[in-house]
Parts: sequence; C-alpha cells; structure tokens
Amino acid sequence: MKNALIIGATSGIGKELAKLLVADNYKVVITGRREKLLQEIKDSNSNQYIVKVHDVTNLDSCEALFNDVKNELKTIDLIVYSSGVGNPNYKLEWEKELPTLQTNIIAATKIYGLAYNFFRKQGFGHLVGISSIASIRGNRHVPAYFASKAFQANYLESLWLKGKRSKAKIVVTDIQPGFVDTSMAIGNTFWMSTKEKASKQIYSAIKKKKKKAYITKRWRLIAVVLKIVPASLLYKFL
Ligand SMILES: NC(=O)c1ccc[n+]([C@@H]2O[C@H](COP(=O)([O-])OP(=O)(O)OC[C@H]3O[C@@H](n4cnc5c(N)ncnc54)[C@H](OP(=O)(O)O)[C@@H]3O)[C@@H](O)[C@H]2O)c1
Repeated sequence: MKNALIIGATSGIGKELAKLLVADNYKVVITGRREKLLQEIKDSNSNQYIVKVHDVTNLDSCEALFNDVKNELKTIDLIVYSSGVGNPNYKLEWEKELPTLQTNIIAATKIYGLAYNFFRKQGFGHLVGISSIASIRGNRHVPAYFASKAFQANYLESLWLKGKRSKAKIVVTDIQPGFVDTSMAIGNTFWMSTKEKASKQIYSAIKKKKKKAYITKRWRLIAVVLKIVPASLLYKFL
C-alpha cells in the first residue's frame, strides 16, 4: 500500500483526488481547517483515510504536521498541495489580498520545501502542486490570485529542475486547471469541468509523472493563446 498526503482535501479537487487514491489502495492523509468535512470523508473509509485538522497559514504547525505524518506512516510516496484561496479585489484592499498571499505563496512555499526535503532524505517521492491556468498572465480583478499562481508555477518548475539533478528520485508536477466546478470557480466561466473529470485527469498526469498538465486537456489551447496574446488586446478580456 502506498501513502499520500493531500493538503487541502476537505472539498473540491483535493477531496476528489483523495477518493481516487483510496480507490487505488493508497492510505491518504487528508488535511484542512474544516474538521467536520474531514471526518465525513474519513467515515466513508476509516481504514484508508487519516485526518489531520490543519491550517497551512499557521507556519510553525506545518513542520509538526510533517513529523506527525512521518511518525505514523514512515514513508510518503505522494504529497499534493491543493490548498488555495482567491477572491476578486476591485479596490485593491490589502485585507483581501493578504489571505491569498499567505495561503498560495507563503504557506505553499513552506509546504513545498518541507515536502522536497522530506523526499530528499527519504530518497524518493512525488510532489504535486495545483497552480492554475491563471499563472500565465495577470488579471485586473483578481491580481493577488493570478500572481500567486504564477509564483507557484515558477517555484514548482524550480523544484522540478532541482529534482532532476538530485540523487534522490524526486518528481515534481505542476497541475494547471482551467475552470473546475468547485467554490473557487467564480466570475464568467466557460469550459467548466466537473471535479470528477478534472481529478481523473490530474491522477492520470500524476501516474505519468508529468512535469506540467493542463486540466482539462483542452485548456492547453487557451494556454497557447494566453502566452502569445499582446497586453494591448489582453486588457479587453482579463
Ligand atoms: N476550481 C477551479 O476552477 C480552479 C482552477 C484553477 C486552480 N484551482 C486551484 O485548485 C486548488 C483547489 O481548489 P478547489 O477548486 O478544489 O477549491 P476548494 O473546494 O475551495 O478547495 C480549496 C481547499 O483549500 C483548503 N484551504 C484553504 N485555505 C486553507 C488553509 N488556510 N489551510 C489549509 N487548507 C486550506 C480548503 O480547506 P479548508 O477551507 O477546510 O481549510 C479546501 O480544502 C486551489 O489551489 C485552487 O487555486 C482551482
């Protein structure tokens, strides 16, 4: 049996991915702040889920979480960072930007680092980050979220490069979803995927040890367009 740790698995993509891993005989540690939701997931298969109530923005507790999981499971094959927040901020209010920076940048960096170093010592492991198609360009309505996703994508590529040169067998995957039907998908959405379909494609990319995967696959087309469209046109849409 393999072991996985999914940070941010109370709902959405993290929760769906946890279900797929459990069905594939993984033991899965699920985390998040909403204890009741974690407990409900555990009740569906108490042998394979382990619940840790955890707020990633409490940085000191991140190390304690890793020590806890290490003591319990000894080895971890897969770590997924799915925690994320992001809200429109039309007036650039600092109070609205801060949680996004804390969760998507500071805490993400903390967890990525803990995961990478854990795998380095262990000699193997697969780290998966969920950035976004939003990582490619800026957005005038949700600036902190888009910038935080650019940070995640760039940081994950750095870790992928580092893993390639490491003696340990470390794989790093950056998942870039378009719209997925969770509470995170707001505004004018299109090509919205169900979370079940998105998670299946994410798990397939994990099994293939991909460096980067667009979810769903057709979002690759949007990625190509976003990378080449001039800012003088972009401002009319984003
Ligand atoms: N849905 C989309 O359209 C879409 C598109 C591109 C990228 N993404 C990314 O996909 C990831 C998963 O989001 P989702 O769509 O599945 O939305 P979601 O259902 O809202 O899931 C977000 C998860 O993040 C966790 N989280 C938030 N703040 C946290 C904190 N301080 N400590 C620990 N966990 C925290 C939440 O758990 P608690 O609230 O219980 O703590 C929840 O489990 C995010 O990184 C998001 O940016 C989503």
